[in-house]
Amino acid sequence: MKGSKFYVTTPIYYISGDPHIGHLYTTVAADIIARYKKMRTTNVLFTTGSDENSLKIVKAAQKAGKEPREYVDDEVEKWKNFFKSFNVQYDRFVRTTDEDHIKAVQHVIKTLHQSGYIYKGKYEGWYCVDCETFWLESDIPNQICPSCGREVHWISEDNYFFKLSAFQKALLDHYEAYPKSIEPESRFNEVVSMIKMGLNDISISRSSVQWGIPFPFDEKHVIYVWFDALINYLTVTGYPNELDTFMYYWPANVHLMSKDIIRFHCVIWPAMLLALGLPLPEKVYVHGWWLTSGEKMSKSKGNVIDPNLVIEDLSKETGISTSLAVDVLRLFMFRESTFGDDAIFTDARFTSRYNFDLANDLGNLISRVYAMTHKTFNDEIPAGTIFSENLRISILETITQYFDLMDHFRFKEALEIVWAFINECNKLIETSKPWELLKQNQLQLYKNLIYSLLESIRIVAILVSPFMPTFANTVLSSLGARSLKEENLAFGKLGFNHVISQLGVTFPRIKTFQSEVPVSKKKEKVEEKKEMVDIDLFQKLDLRIGLIEKAEKLEGSEKLVVLQVRVGSESKQIVAGIAQHYIPEDLVNKKIVVVNNLKPAKLRGVESQGMLLAASNELGLTLITPEKEIDSGSVVK
Ligand code: MSP
Repeated sequence: MKGSKFYVTTPIYYISGDPHIGHLYTTVAADIIARYKKMRTTNVLFTTGSDENSLKIVKAAQKAGKEPREYVDDEVEKWKNFFKSFNVQYDRFVRTTDEDHIKAVQHVIKTLHQSGYIYKGKYEGWYCVDCETFWLESDIPNQICPSCGREVHWISEDNYFFKLSAFQKALLDHYEAYPKSIEPESRFNEVVSMIKMGLNDISISRSSVQWGIPFPFDEKHVIYVWFDALINYLTVTGYPNELDTFMYYWPANVHLMSKDIIRFHCVIWPAMLLALGLPLPEKVYVHGWWLTSGEKMSKSKGNVIDPNLVIEDLSKETGISTSLAVDVLRLFMFRESTFGDDAIFTDARFTSRYNFDLANDLGNLISRVYAMTHKTFNDEIPAGTIFSENLRISILETITQYFDLMDHFRFKEALEIVWAFINECNKLIETSKPWELLKQNQLQLYKNLIYSLLESIRIVAILVSPFMPTFANTVLSSLGARSLKEENLAFGKLGFNHVISQLGVTFPRIKTFQSEVPVSKKKEKVEEKKEMVDIDLFQKLDLRIGLIEKAEKLEGSEKLVVLQVRVGSESKQIVAGIAQHYIPEDLVNKKIVVVNNLKPAKLRGVESQGMLLAASNELGLTLITPEKEIDSGSVVK
């Protein structure tokens, strides 16, 4: 194998539940990385898959009245179709029941046994079936799993153990040498302190369970599901038989996942690799959780966002095709979240992102430029050159910054750079006044402008293509320019005289949108009635219009934001519990209603000198803002 390579993985999923936006997020992130790397002509291996040898599966199969094998064969199709419908182009969907995986796992066990890293012993302790995790007595007051909150079970059986304890120093040395191998930094620190607290050997077999990969030299045991699952990352490279591809692709360039499974990936997995004498992955990138109503999504809480429903609703509401709606959700997930932090899904955020970024910014740019091309050139691309030196510089800078940010998985910022460029193009239309150029008979300048804008749209389409592949291909083919490769990011690749096909309104605006759990499905709330007050009491309140000048999340708090609010000539600090509903930077410059004469109080040690007004229900929270423009400090009565 030749040339540069990039190997990216997602966790392999437990397929006993339905996929939701959290699973989609990791998998689309990997797809974005894979498409981006392919744009830059790297050989990519992108894998995802299913973790099937777990007790969860046995239980779910029983419930469905099926044999485990029949059950997983049925379920896995759902997951594959799900990813396919979101335009995920993985190279391999590995199943832990696949023959080559079973062979790879058994090879690892034999090798580690021969080198003395696996030994037999007695395991007594607590186990959580849902997380497939062994817990120490000290971890579980009340016999409740600290990860999922479900009951744990006592296990006492003869097991095989892996000598994890032998790798404490080697792991600490590795992480000291490669501090960037776990990102974000906070996760790196978490892992290092986990290792410093000491490592115990771990049980890696179960004798009371039949479903799973048999131990190669003791068939009474099956291999512990996590030990088996982690090895999928080797299986897909051809390990241990196809040495060429294995040596080419291994080590993985990045393992993606969320924070719940870092102990397995950053402690146990590298120790297994060290024991095998294999290089460690270049990076584990840990992203945050998608939350709804401030909580991690889970089936039991009934707050799961079903991406299929989002697509269906969006397509119904706007009339765009489902494949374009898929692009919109893919874009939203990465424009909205900072990769590494938690993110909140609300209809309001989804709608405003769509209306601002797509209907307004990108959609408008395309429709204005295409309309001018239609009107003056009968849809033919005019022979032009770059409109201005500024535009040339701006294109070059956009591409350089985009590459740098994408290389570091800073998707949100990469998209911000692209959108800043889109808006620059929109501004260029206003400042260059094309209709006046025509009136003044400056035809060549006008041609240069239209050609440059069409070129800019083509370049934007390539840059957003990892996120919005359908959109990118539609735009490129309308321009007669199909390639998504990096070399086509250069200005001037668009051929003259091609007749463009008009795209109509690419992103019609959304007026209403409803994709969260319907209110009817939520628990009924008892209306709280308050006692009547007279007007004097109400008039004691000094309600004013305030202008938010600064907003920052309060460190260590999931809910609180610290706001600096201007109320007339005064500036005051207000601590508000709105972090799960607004992104701080979006609050700046908003006008709100402030209770100005509330006695100061301390929240989490930070002084709050007032309160803001907001309305909330089960679907979310909205700030009360003035309907017309009005000065800060104005009295509300
Ligand atoms: N089977 C194990 C992984 C084995 S990998 C060798 C497992 N499976 S899982 O189905 O529970 O998937 C967990 C992964 O799904 C997370 O690490 C994350 O990538 C993704 N997500 C599941 N819920 C999520 C959110 N609410 N938000 C973001 N991603 C989350 O653990």
